[in-house]
Order: sequence, then structure tokens, then C-alpha cells
Amino acid sequence: MRKPIMAGNWKMYKTESEAVDFAKNLKPLVAGVKDRTILICTPFPALSKVNDALRDSNVALGAQNLYWEDEGAFTGEVSAPMLKAVGCTYVIIGHSERRQYFGETEATVNKKLKAAIKHNLNAIVCVGETLEQREKGETFKIIERQVKEGLHSFDPAKRDHWSFVILAYEPVWAIGTGKTATPEQAQEVHAFIRGLLPKEVAQEVRILYGGSVKPENVKELMAQPDIDGGLVGGASLKVESFEKLVRY
Ligand code: PGA
Repeated sequence: MRKPIMAGNWKMYKTESEAVDFAKNLKPLVAGVKDRTILICTPFPALSKVNDALRDSNVALGAQNLYWEDEGAFTGEVSAPMLKAVGCTYVIIGHSERRQYFGETEATVNKKLKAAIKHNLNAIVCVGETLEQREKGETFKIIERQVKEGLHSFDPAKRDHWSFVILAYEPVWAIGTGKTATPEQAQEVHAFIRGLLPKEVAQEVRILYGGSVKPENVKELMAQPDIDGGLVGGASLKVESFEKLVRY
């Protein structure tokens, strides 16, 4: 059985104090929820204080990016050991906004994923096609390339590595647009992604859906056999709506 995950990706929203308020408010609301992983991925400056606020809770903490070296002259970057030191157990890798605005590629995704796993950080690797690619009928080709190259040289025999790998299918045309993929459209791609994974681990790897997930559509999405959770932007920013998502 794959344990579902409900993850908030806050993007570049919330100062440290706003983030701490959210964490303090969320904690009691979801205290009894045990059958799913609850995760918030905050901006870097909020991580440490949010970690303090979440102590002794069932809410996990994640970052939205990392750099693949442990340390060095890499101005502006943050490494896996630094994320671990502030309490992160998860990190998002290769979000489409990082690919679009910050030049990330399959090759950098692969390096970041290896760095995350080396330090026992659970990695949420994002893939997804643009509207133009979907309309040209290239969805499966693009997803296949992103998954295969992003996960390049992962040995299926290394189960301890694979247990840290999570994928997220986020069609770019559905992110922040209010246009969700239909549950059937999402399921089709999720099943395709699972089919690309080595058979030894395919049934264990969790695949999240992201792109305008909200309390109104989360239930139908989560009812699909290959959708194991949500990666939620806009609807994760308010405690009330995130709680509803967690309790889908
Ligand atoms: P959205 O963003 O829920 O606001 O569409 C999802 C994401 O980018 O992870």
C-alpha cells in the first residue's frame, strides 16, 4: 500500500512570521490524521522557525529546491546538508517554474535527485507537459524523457534509494490556471509514468498530481488508482483549505 501524501508548495509566498502562524494553526487541526503524509514546503527563510513550530506534530517539512554540491563557492545556493540541518525531510526538485524561469533541465534534476538521496531527503521530482506540447500530441514523449533522464542511472536493486523517490505529474497548463486535468487525463499519465519505472519498484513509488488541486476536486483525483497524493500551490496557502485537502 502506498501511503498518500498531501503536500503544500508555497512557492514564493509567506514571510517567516506568516509561515509560523500557518504552522501553529495547522498543527492542532490535523493532529489526528495518521493514514497520510502531510507536508508543507516553505520558502528557505521560513524553514527553521516552521520546523520549531511543527515539533511533535505529524506535519513534515520540505524545501522547494536544493543545489547538488554539499558546500562550496556557489553564491545563493542551498545544499542538502543545510536543509537537513533545519529540519527538512523532503525537497521538491525540477518544478516547472524552475525549469521555465531558472533553466533547470533533466540533467540538473538528476544531479539534484542524487544529492537529495545521498542525504536521505525524500525528493519530489516534478514532470509535466506544456499546453503546446499537449496540443501537438507530445505529452507522453515529453513525460518519458523527463522521467527517464531525471531518474537516469537509478539502480532498481537499490530499494533504499527508491524509497526516497516520489514523482509529481504537474501539467504546466494546469498550474495556477484554475484548469485542472480531468481525473481521467491525470490517471492516464500517472499510469504511463508508473509503467516507465523499473518493475521491481513501480508499485511502491508514489506519484502525486499537481495543477489547480483544490478542496472541490481533490476527492475525484485521489480516487484514481495511480494518483497517490497532491502537490498543491494556491489552495495550500490558507489553513482552512489545506486542512480540507488533507482530509479529502
Ligand atoms: P497550483 O500549483 O496548485 O497553484 O496550480 C501547483 C504547483 O505548482 O505545485
